[in-house]
Amino acid sequence: MSHAATPRRYFLETWGCQMNELDSQRMAGQLMQLGILPTKRPEEADVILLNSCSVREKAEQKVYSSLGRYRRFKQDRPSMLIGLCGCVAQQEGERALRRVAELDFVLGPARVGELTELIARRRQGERLVATGFPAQTDYAFDNISRDGIYKGMVTIIEGCNKRCTFCIVPQTRGPERCRSLAEILAEVRHLVAFGFLEIELLGQTVNHWREPDGERDFADLLDAVARVPGVERLRFVTSYPRDFTPRMVEMVGRHPNICPYLHLPVQSGSDSVLRRMARGYTVDDYRRLAAALRDARPDLALSTDIIVGFPGETEDDFQETMELLRELQFSSVFAFKYSPRPGTAAPRLGGDVALEVADRRLQKLLGEQQEIQRRLNRELEGEVFDVLVTGWGRQPATQSGRTPCHRIVHFPVEGAGTTLGQVLPIVIERGNPNSLMGRPAPG
Ligand code: SAH
Ligand code: F3S
Repeated sequence: MSHAATPRRYFLETWGCQMNELDSQRMAGQLMQLGILPTKRPEEADVILLNSCSVREKAEQKVYSSLGRYRRFKQDRPSMLIGLCGCVAQQEGERALRRVAELDFVLGPARVGELTELIARRRQGERLVATGFPAQTDYAFDNISRDGIYKGMVTIIEGCNKRCTFCIVPQTRGPERCRSLAEILAEVRHLVAFGFLEIELLGQTVNHWREPDGERDFADLLDAVARVPGVERLRFVTSYPRDFTPRMVEMVGRHPNICPYLHLPVQSGSDSVLRRMARGYTVDDYRRLAAALRDARPDLALSTDIIVGFPGETEDDFQETMELLRELQFSSVFAFKYSPRPGTAAPRLGGDVALEVADRRLQKLLGEQQEIQRRLNRELEGEVFDVLVTGWGRQPATQSGRTPCHRIVHFPVEGAGTTLGQVLPIVIERGNPNSLMGRPAPG
C-alpha cells in the first residue's frame, strides 16, 4: 500500500480593510493552485503569510508581534517560508528583511499576483522584495479563493490620489488605478454564475472610479452592475463624500438591488478639523449629501468613520462631532483615536491632543453612539426583513445573517437550518445596539 503524500499547508493571517481581505483571497487562490492547502495551525505550515495593515500604529505592531511568534516555528521546520505582505510590506520593504532574519520575502499590495513566482524564486535561494506599483498587473479573478459563497468582492479602483493629512494609504497602496468596465462586468457575471448573490465593489475612494480612457463614471458603473441579472444585493465601499454626484445619488434611489446601506466616512463634525485633515468638504456639504441620499432611499442606513484627537482638535470641535452624531443618527460608527503615521502631513500641524483627552473623547463618543444604535434598532422591532443567511450563531440552534441595510440578525432554527447564502424573511423581536434578534416570519 502506498502512502499518500502529506499535503503542503499554508497559514494566512489578515488584518485591515476589505481590500486586504480580497488580497488574501487572491493569495490563497494562488497557493491552492500549487496544491498548498489551508491550515489553522501556523506551526504545521509550509508557508506563512502575514497580510498586514499600517493605517494606525497599533495595527502595524500586531504584524511584528505575530512575526515574532511564527519565526520560532522555523527552528523545527527550516523549510517553512514566511512572507510579509500588505501595507506594512510596502512601507518597510528591504528594512523588514534586515530586521527579521527568518523572513523569506516581502510582497506589497500591488504585487499580490506575483506570489507564486516569488515562492518559486525563494525556493531557488533568493530573498526577495516585491513592492511598488507596476503600471501593468495581471488580475486573475477566476483564480481567487472566494471566502464563503454569498458575498463576492470586486476591486474596481486601486490606490488613492487624495491626500488626507492623517492617512498612510496613498503611500502603501499607491496612485489610483481604475479597472475597465468590461473587466469589472466580466468578474461580476462570473461571480453570479457561481451563485454569489451579493456583489461588493471595492476601492479606497470607490465612487471616484472613471473608465480608463473613457467617459463613464461611477454612476454609470453602478447602473451597469445593478442591471446584471442575478445581482441580488449590490454594495460598495468606501465612498468619498466629495466625489458623490447627484447622478450617483439617483442610482442609489433607482435600483432596489443597491443595498440601503452606505459607508460614508465624515471623520469630524468640525469644519476647522476637516480643513486641517484636507478632506475638501464642510460639515454642511456632508449634511446635504446625507439628506439627498436619504431622500432617494428613505430606508438608508448610513455608517461612518470618525477620528478623535486629531492635532488641534479642541473641546468645541469635539462637541460639534457629538452634535453631528446626534443629528445624523448613524447605524454604526467606526471611531478611532488619531495615530500619527510616518510620511503624512498631520504630525507637523502641531496642537497634539493629550492621550487621556483623546481616550476620554473616544469613550464618550462610543458610549453615546451605543445609545443611538439601541434606539434605532428598537424602532425596527416588529418589522420583517429579507435576511441573507451567512452563518451559524454562537448559541446552539441559531443562525445569523444580514438585512439589506447590513444589520446583523440572529434567529433560532430547527433541524439543519437554512442553507447559507439563502434569503429568509425574519421578523425582528428585539433590537440591541449591535445586532437584532428575530425569528423566521410565519408563513
Ligand atoms: N479610503 C478609505 C480608507 C481609509 S482608512 C476610507 O476613506 O474609508 C479607514 C479609516 O481609518 C479612515 O476613514 C479613518 O477614519 C481611519 N484612519 C486613517 N488614518 C488614521 C490615522 N492616522 N489615525 C487614526 N485613524 C485613521
Ligand atoms: Fe486615506 Fe483619504 Fe485616501 S482617508 S485612503 S487619503 S481618501
